[in-house]
Amino acid sequence: MRREPHPLTGTMYEDIGDGRIKVQKEGSNAYGIFSYTGEWIEGEVTQADPMMLLYIGGPDLPRDHEVTWMVAPSKAFDGTIPMEAFPGTHMDEMKRIVGKYQPDTGMETAEGWRSNGNADPSFFLDNDRVPERVPDAYRQRGALPGGPKRISTDRYWKKEFHDLEVEHIWKKTWQMACREDEIPNVGDYYVYDIAHLSYLVVRTEDGVMAHQNVCLHRGRLLKDCSGKGEKEFRCPFHGWAWKLDGSLKEITCEWDFPGVREHAKQLPAAKVAVWEGFVFINPDPDAGPLEDFLGPVMMEHYHRYGFEHRYIQANVSKLIHANWKVVMEAFMEAYHVIATHPHQMLTSGDLSNTHYDVFGNWGRSAQYPSPGSPQRGIFVSREEALAQYRAAADGTRGLIQALTGEDLSEWSDAELNGNAFNDLFPNLHPWGGWMRICFRFRPHGDDPEASIMDILLLAPWAKDKPRPAPAKPRKLGFDEPWTMAPELLSLSKITDQDVFNVPSVQRGLKAKNPPYVWYSAYQEMKIRNFHQNYEKALGLADETPEG
Ligand code: FES
Ligand SMILES: [Fe+2]
Repeated sequence: MRREPHPLTGTMYEDIGDGRIKVQKEGSNAYGIFSYTGEWIEGEVTQADPMMLLYIGGPDLPRDHEVTWMVAPSKAFDGTIPMEAFPGTHMDEMKRIVGKYQPDTGMETAEGWRSNGNADPSFFLDNDRVPERVPDAYRQRGALPGGPKRISTDRYWKKEFHDLEVEHIWKKTWQMACREDEIPNVGDYYVYDIAHLSYLVVRTEDGVMAHQNVCLHRGRLLKDCSGKGEKEFRCPFHGWAWKLDGSLKEITCEWDFPGVREHAKQLPAAKVAVWEGFVFINPDPDAGPLEDFLGPVMMEHYHRYGFEHRYIQANVSKLIHANWKVVMEAFMEAYHVIATHPHQMLTSGDLSNTHYDVFGNWGRSAQYPSPGSPQRGIFVSREEALAQYRAAADGTRGLIQALTGEDLSEWSDAELNGNAFNDLFPNLHPWGGWMRICFRFRPHGDDPEASIMDILLLAPWAKDKPRPAPAKPRKLGFDEPWTMAPELLSLSKITDQDVFNVPSVQRGLKAKNPPYVWYSAYQEMKIRNFHQNYEKALGLADETPEG
């Protein structure tokens, strides 16, 4: 049974079975018993941290799935490397950091205000053990000028904003439809749905193409779900058919449709481009190249990791009662760790000293260490932080070499530690380095208050083995927690905490008066950048008051 102190207060949280948690104050006999969903059941202690209750008493995982989710493999996936080979990946075996909360007062730096635990990234780069290999993209800083940004709450729930997004984002922007390994052979197709739009992304003799997934007779969807080895797209209603390249193959009883052939000769196309195994589409025929949209810093940042050589190890989607942007923004800063993931602070910092950069459509964070825990007054010396940085690089090198057989002896510390959480406008979050995590966020049909969150784990595999088949997609409903997908390892428990907040944010945004919210200058800079790009796409003005 799980038993952990709250990392800020020292209050003990203990799982006593049946989803009940005993909460006992430090140095006192006073206790309370709570359900893991937050209801008080009995005892003198009547208040508890809902996130700690969820972590301690919520749905649990099999032990071989309760491992650090960064780069660790799971026995359940490949079984090639026993978990015992990765000591210290279980929460219960890791060293604890416990300390009382104290405010992070911040400090002024040449780049602006930062956490008082800020560690200058250039210190780590200047002390890299393989300096000549450090990519320029790592050295570049991308601060977004300006202070806190004000955003009206209506863009999170009004249908008129959803409709503007369809016209100006989903019909106009490069967006990730699928991974290449979901359509490996000619005739394999993926049905990509976004809002009320639907596309067939298909591998043809001439490469990957995308067509509108709609029959040009009476408008039935041509395919209801993805499939393999198709020769044609034949409508299940009256049998009109198009070839894989979208050109007309047959109008059944064509004698009855004189003059219509010309209008049905080609399924409307979307542009397609592939980057690092991600298949992007853009329905706008005038769209510029994908490379320009990604930008040179992003392309260089990922270049050496060989993301095209990753297979889909897990593929889980979940419906959530919140606007897609509300859900997405819960994954764009580490500022929420102290309140949303208290248990994570037991083994790592509070991350208020995480670094952020933005470069056009791309945002990056955390590729440098965030040593100590500034909100608990725990600081480490630069030398200690550097030693941790190097140890983490050595750990990743050993793990990836064992997994893939690749020789990473020449890799720089910076590259080995490049496990950043990144985002590409509008809705793709491919984490960096050797992290396997990739998120995508989409509206659920035309409901501005419901969304679909996809989690892909993209993993390398042993170089001398064929590419493993992609995992079968798993779909979770509104009421099914991420822990029902044990293949996500302990990421599932952490994501349950993140997603536990968002329906409450959605409700609060509608209830809020005055009807606007604020995003911070630095820690929420990636969200500010998203909204800057969003406002540009939709033709909205920045409403932040001067000064
Ligand atoms: S709607 Fe497709 S053939 Fe009639
Ligand atoms: Fe989180």
